[in-house]
Amino acid sequence: MVLSGVRSVRLLAIETSCDETAAAVVEDGRRILSNVVSTQTAIHAPYGGVVPELASRHHIENIAPVVSQAMADAAMEYANLDAVAVTQGPGLVGSLLVGVQVAKGIAFVHGKPLVPVHHIAGHIHAPFLAHGDGEGDVPLPALALVVSGGHTHLYEVPEEGSYRLLGRTRDDAAGEAYDKVAKLLGLGYPGGPVIDRLSQGANDRAVEFTIARIKDGRGDYSFSGVKTAVLHHVRRHGIAPCAGAEAATSEIRDLVASFQRAVVTALLQRFRQAALAVGPRSLLLTGGVAANSRLRREAAEMAAGLGLPLFVPPISLSTDNAAMIGAAGFVAYRQGRRGGWDLNAEPHLSIF
Ligand code: KG4
Ligand code: ZN
Repeated sequence: MVLSGVRSVRLLAIETSCDETAAAVVEDGRRILSNVVSTQTAIHAPYGGVVPELASRHHIENIAPVVSQAMADAAMEYANLDAVAVTQGPGLVGSLLVGVQVAKGIAFVHGKPLVPVHHIAGHIHAPFLAHGDGEGDVPLPALALVVSGGHTHLYEVPEEGSYRLLGRTRDDAAGEAYDKVAKLLGLGYPGGPVIDRLSQGANDRAVEFTIARIKDGRGDYSFSGVKTAVLHHVRRHGIAPCAGAEAATSEIRDLVASFQRAVVTALLQRFRQAALAVGPRSLLLTGGVAANSRLRREAAEMAAGLGLPLFVPPISLSTDNAAMIGAAGFVAYRQGRRGGWDLNAEPHLSIF
């Protein structure tokens, strides 16, 4: 397709780093032509967390239909793709391998370049995606808070495709703390959406949880302490876990609301401090926990106070998806980043 003399770039993107099997076709890193996500939440729910062996097995079953659906939804022929982008890491190795091998196979058979993408670069690029032309331009430098089940990281994005780590969690990720607290209280998996919902209208001052400020070179966020504080509170007060979210008592709702207040306050305190130190032109809030209603609301208030625009992807693009990999993959593609046929999954990949 020719637009104003410039040919657009269309990427098939594949994401299988955790428990979502996802494929998307993205044009010029901005426009989503298709975005298919097959979630395994129900499979892992009985275990209160992702079981790696089950995840990779289901990726193998789901990947072919998910990719075919993404191509069909976009009315794309493989021959017309410019490249295949894939999450190389970080993530669960068995899960990542499925996406990497399938991406390699498609790229090899159709003679297309293979573009490896860092999962967090994907999350950072989710706010760049828009459905219409001309939308989605994010003023740079930006400051990005990536909060998910695996990550709580603050990055400066000086220019597209460049990421500078400013802070991270030294132990649990924020989403992991949500999931563990929910499991402890018998609220089901994943914990984030349940705690978000149960907190609404509850007394968030019932229990005073604090999250210490840590600056020891190992990271700026810490969420394992608040998780343990919830555990101690439960033991001290003899609170019995409930049989699912619907059985939550007002005591439990107040408890999770108080936990959520502490987490959101800590997330935004560091985000604000970093914004004041770095002086970005915009703020990005992304990752699964960015779906949290309290975090979204208070981040918007914080950004307004700083006079900065805040970009938060819609919930479908906040949690794991392949469109964000297509957006980050487009930048990597333009930078000339390519994977060879020996490309391997890297569970501990550092950002590039
Ligand atoms: O980005 P994501 O889909 O996967 C990872 O890369 O980890 O994030 C999943 C995490 C889970 O821990 C889940 O509990 C959390 O995001 N999450 C939420 C909400 N929705 C999902 N946390 C808080 N509030 C929510 N509404
Ligand atoms: Zn993620």
